[in-house]
Parts: sequence; structure tokens; C-alpha cells
Amino acid sequence: MLIDCDPGLDDAIALLTAAHHANLVGITTVNGNVGIDHTTHNALAVAQVAQLDIPIHRGAERPLVNAPMDAAHVHGPTGLGSVEIPDLVRTVDSHDAVTFILDMARTVDDLHLVPIGPLTNIALALQADPTLPSRLSGITLMGGAAVGGNVTATAEFNVWADPEAAAIVFRHGGPITMVGLDVTHQVLLGADHRDTMRAAGTATSLLAADLLDYAVEGADKIHGWGGAPIHDASAVVAVTHPELFGGEWHPVEVEIDGALTRGMTVVDSRPDASDEATVKVLRNVDADAVIELIVGAVTSPPGD
Ligand code: RIB
Ligand code: CA
Repeated sequence: MLIDCDPGLDDAIALLTAAHHANLVGITTVNGNVGIDHTTHNALAVAQVAQLDIPIHRGAERPLVNAPMDAAHVHGPTGLGSVEIPDLVRTVDSHDAVTFILDMARTVDDLHLVPIGPLTNIALALQADPTLPSRLSGITLMGGAAVGGNVTATAEFNVWADPEAAAIVFRHGGPITMVGLDVTHQVLLGADHRDTMRAAGTATSLLAADLLDYAVEGADKIHGWGGAPIHDASAVVAVTHPELFGGEWHPVEVEIDGALTRGMTVVDSRPDASDEATVKVLRNVDADAVIELIVGAVTSPPGD
């Protein structure tokens, strides 16, 4: 698995989840929740705390067309809430995420690409090598929604932040599994899960507890929910434990021009559209089982 991310509270928990449940062979970073300096610093910090010996390559610092926007109001100004980030000793392996993604697709058998931020790096990789999908076991992305949005009434943040990139990925990157808000809003971690992480007392579990704490507070303020949707970790579990999710294959396109709908993932569920169906749109999830796997990952001893 290669994760492209914009840490980000839930990205950070997703990296820890992947390190435990998957063979995580690489991390690339992208501008998204916060600027590329912060998302890259945060990926390095998570890898350092969790002792992950995994290459990290810095990627796009801005969307293809949009001016950079962020979600600092959700993730905090640094992108990792109020977590005290340790003095970094880890450094990036390059500033060229796209070349790293293409090289890994050529050298790693059965590589699964898991984008959990805006899709800028993935779109640039597809433009550089349109045959990329033929060398992957697939793309499973956190993004979009069959119904609704979180940044606007119709758009989810990762697609909204760079809709031109998302349009390229959905058009040319198939087969894709779309882990959208339809399922990630069902997987909510709350104060009890935070307490379990804190009680485990490892550097990784304490980091996850602090990240979750900030996310739960934010989710309560924004939605009045008793828990926070750890969107990105659900996408990781959709790869490692696909049996916990259900969905159907449809054509999906991204709206670029709509005044009210820019960044919307338009899912065509008409029966006669099925011959263009290159996206598995997930709708159902065994949320309790997914939560157990996420909590289990971040509370396991390092290297376990
Ligand atoms: O809409 C949720 C997505 O936007 C997640 O990937 C979160 O990290 C933010 O990037
Ligand atoms: Ca993210």
C-alpha cells in the first residue's frame, strides 16, 4: 500500500492503521488540510513517533487550478490539532512524489494506491503515465459522496479542494473504490475510544489519543456528534478488510463548473450506465468492526 495524504488528524490515524494492518511501502504528501510544509512535517512526525521506517516523498504544494485552500478550522493551524510535535530527525526522501508513485508502481507487485487527501499528485501521475492503473492492484480513495457533502451541500473536501485533479482521477484512474462520506460518516470514534488509546500508554497510542481528542471536540462543535468521523482510516480498512464494506459499481464524474455543485462526485446509478462503471461506490459498512480495527492498530505495541 502507498498512501498519498494531507495530515491532518484523520490522515495521521490512517497512517498508524495502515502501518499495523497493511504492508505500507511509501507515503507521499500533498497540500490539503493545511499547507504542504505542514502536511509533510506531520507525515514525518507520525512516522518518527511510530518508528515507521518508510520512505516519505513531498508532493504538490497547490491544486491544479484552485488557489490552495485548507481545513485548518478542523485540523488546527499545524494540521495535527494541539499535538506537541517532536523535534524532527526524519527528513523527506525527495520533493517528487509523482516520480516516487510511478517508480513504486513499476517495482512493487500488486501495489494498492490509497489517496486520502486532494488528488493533485494522483492526477499529475496519471498525466505523466496514463498506463499507471495497469500496474496497480487498484486505487481506493477517501473522497466524494454519493449523497451530500461536508464543505458545501454537494462537495466533500478532498474532491472540492482540487476538482480538476479529481475529475482526471475518476475519468482515467479506474478501477477505483470510492470511500466517501456515505460510509465515513458512519464510522465515528468518541471519548471512550480516546480513553482506550490513552490507557494503552504507548507513544503511538498517546499520539492517536491526542489527535482523536481534538477531532472529537471539533465534531461536537460542528455537528453536535458524540464522535468524530476518522474518514481516512476507514479508507485504509476498506483495503485491508474489504468484507466489512458494501457498495456497487457505477460511473462517477466530478462537476467542475456548477455554481452550487463544483467538486460534486456525480454517481450515475442508472441501470444502463453500468458499462462505464469503473468506480465501486461504498455505501454500507460494519462500523463497529472498523472501529475495533482502528483502535486495535493504534494501541498495538510498536512493530507489532
Ligand atoms: O472530507 C474528509 C477528508 O478531508 C479527509 O481526508 C480529511 O483528512 C480531509 O482531508
Ligand atoms: Ca485527508
